[in-house]
Amino acid sequence: MANDLDDFVQDLQNQIYDETREAYGDVAFERWLHPTYVGTIENPDGYGQLTGSCGDTMQVFLKLQNNHVTEASFQTDGCGSSAVCGSFASEMALGKTPDEILEITGNVILEKLGGLPKEEEHCAFLAGDTLQEALNDYMVKQTRRR
Ligand code: FES
Repeated sequence: MANDLDDFVQDLQNQIYDETREAYGDVAFERWLHPTYVGTIENPDGYGQLTGSCGDTMQVFLKLQNNHVTEASFQTDGCGSSAVCGSFASEMALGKTPDEILEITGNVILEKLGGLPKEEEHCAFLAGDTLQEALNDYMVKQTRRR
């Protein structure tokens, strides 16, 4: 009996995984299974927080040294796609200069993922915009130091 239930749960999980991979593509699916760059950074040099029109909130944390990002992370209370997009936004920011971060937009994140279902494309823009907020915070702090 227990084995039947285990098999049923396993089949159900496999079905969910297959459907998710189908809908989101391999790149997003793998990141959804193993999200990276999740968490906060103490005393970030740049911090952004935005709430999207869907009501979900994302935070991005950046540390910079010598004008390059040395640490990046994100947190979100949003959907699986927002976690995937926040993870890629953080990954893509690593090692970049502020000028280079300006180029990491929602569209660039979508390209990296090979696209998302239409109704979830806004999750990539939430991630891109929150990264830009964190960069903006860093730039403001730099200006104040001068
Ligand atoms: Fe809100 Fe994805 S549905 S960020």
